[in-house]
Amino acid sequence: MPKTTQRLKSRTALITGASRGIGLAIARKFAQQGCNLIIAGRDDKSLRQVSRELLRLKIRVLAACCDVRDRHSVDALFRSIPREFPRIDILINNAGIAHPNLPIDKLPFPVWKDVFATNADGMFLVTQAALPLMKNGATIVNNLSIAATRVFPGSAAYNASKHAARGFTNTLREELRPRGIRVIGLEAGATDTEIWKTLWPQAPRRKMMSAETVAEAVLAAVLVPPNATMETIEILPSVGML
Ligand SMILES: NC(=O)c1ccc[n+]([C@@H]2O[C@H](COP(=O)([O-])OP(=O)(O)OC[C@H]3O[C@@H](n4cnc5c(N)ncnc54)[C@H](OP(=O)(O)O)[C@@H]3O)[C@@H](O)[C@H]2O)c1
Repeated sequence: MPKTTQRLKSRTALITGASRGIGLAIARKFAQQGCNLIIAGRDDKSLRQVSRELLRLKIRVLAACCDVRDRHSVDALFRSIPREFPRIDILINNAGIAHPNLPIDKLPFPVWKDVFATNADGMFLVTQAALPLMKNGATIVNNLSIAATRVFPGSAAYNASKHAARGFTNTLREELRPRGIRVIGLEAGATDTEIWKTLWPQAPRRKMMSAETVAEAVLAAVLVPPNATMETIEILPSVGML
């Protein structure tokens, strides 16, 4: 793992979906580097628990309930941030959901819409609200998936939402390049988190990466020297499954 550096000390990172899984693993890695955190998710109880854990690392933490699908909820989050932190140095758009494995002719439209609202609209809403607080030298990491470039039958809404999020990420990168804000697309393969309970409950967890491994890759990409950028992180299990 990257050694503790001073690069993230007293910086501020906003992580959506930080209550568990990959978002929580990234929060822990950043906190170990002395990075202050704004952690968001829908479940207040688990956020408060995570906040208590992170505060032990002597960083500042703002835990805020936010549903990324809802513009009013996102606006409320961003009204609370300037009271605690003047700027956001790192934005991790991580909140995301999957859906039960179903062929397209059986996929309910409300499921399709919910997956898009979370994985694509949510990324747009949070990014748009965060940009006024982000300056030259800042970094945005969008948690896509290997499903943003390849497809898995039975996961049409997830695949399509992640392809949309990748198109958004690639556009954002070019728009922000002149402002010196780096945009990284995280394209991870199977990672052992609760998301699999929805997608494929019997999935072979032992063949998956840990959320900590993915978080280490994110930290390493964020710590690339400021005059360089790792535009895509593609990280996959080495054996058995994508
Ligand atoms: N696990 C994998 O194999 C894998 C691989 C590639 C990419 N990814 C991506 O990684 C990201 C994190 O997933 P994970 O695997 O860590 O799953 P997870 O353990 O289920 O975590 C998902 C997180 O997103 C939050 N979330 C979901 N809907 C939200 C909403 N509407 N508003 C705010 N927060 C919301 C959840 O908190 P609440 O439910 O409390 O809101 C939770 O903190 C997702 O974007 C996923 O697509 C996962």
